Amino acid sequence: AGKNVFYYDSTDSTNLRIREAGDAGAPHGTLAVADRQTAGRGRRGRTWESPAGSSIYMSVLLRPEFKPDRASMLTLVMACSVAQGIMDCEAVDVQIKWPNDIIINGKKLVGILTEMSSQIDYINHVTVGVGINVNMTEFPEEIAETATSLRLECGHPVKRAPLIAAVMRRLEENYETFLETEDLSGLMEIYSSMLVNRGRDVLILGTKEQYQAHALGISPEGELIVRRQDGTEERICAGEVSVRGV
Ligand code: BTN
Repeated sequence: AGKNVFYYDSTDSTNLRIREAGDAGAPHGTLAVADRQTAGRGRRGRTWESPAGSSIYMSVLLRPEFKPDRASMLTLVMACSVAQGIMDCEAVDVQIKWPNDIIINGKKLVGILTEMSSQIDYINHVTVGVGINVNMTEFPEEIAETATSLRLECGHPVKRAPLIAAVMRRLEENYETFLETEDLSGLMEIYSSMLVNRGRDVLILGTKEQYQAHALGISPEGELIVRRQDGTEERICAGEVSVRGV
């Protein structure tokens, strides 16, 4: 992965650039990186603050050799890779907040947005976009309490290029493992060891119900396994609920 790289000083969204490249037939592993985004996208229709010079905005094109209904697992493969890549470069301990966020000292450091193109005319491809707060020292008011950057956590500025390379190296390795096992069982130990809230009580906020449960781990299919207070186990799909620590 990462042999085919597009670099932009400024673009609307690297996820859009990769979707376009994918539609035009670009190979698996194509990478788009921008210094700044003018229309950075977050999950649930939110925007992703994307100023110049201080962060990593990257998107990778994946052409999975399986039905794209399992695309949500690719988010977990990426989350693992980003967490490992960061720890390869810096002496920090990061955790994964299932399914999409990377957390450091309780604050959000990385967001991941997976989007897929599944029009019948095209070969399906998946865009996995990653935003890493690298050298930001100030955040918009709405997220000032909940966001952090590597610079703030490590106490020194962090170079972006080696970090991107480390993430891509880990992604290549993990994707290989993922294809071999065809599920997340091969990555489970790594993923679980970084899972925030594992072994703790969490609040599950679904559309239909809310309840407190005990987070047990991740299934080979990438669901969060929890134990309800009545002792029954539940497997939760990403996208259906949000999870809060209590
Ligand atoms: C989230 O809401 O947590 C996901 C944020 C994902 C942001 C990244 S930055 C690179 C890529 N391009 C985008 O427009 N979004 C993703």
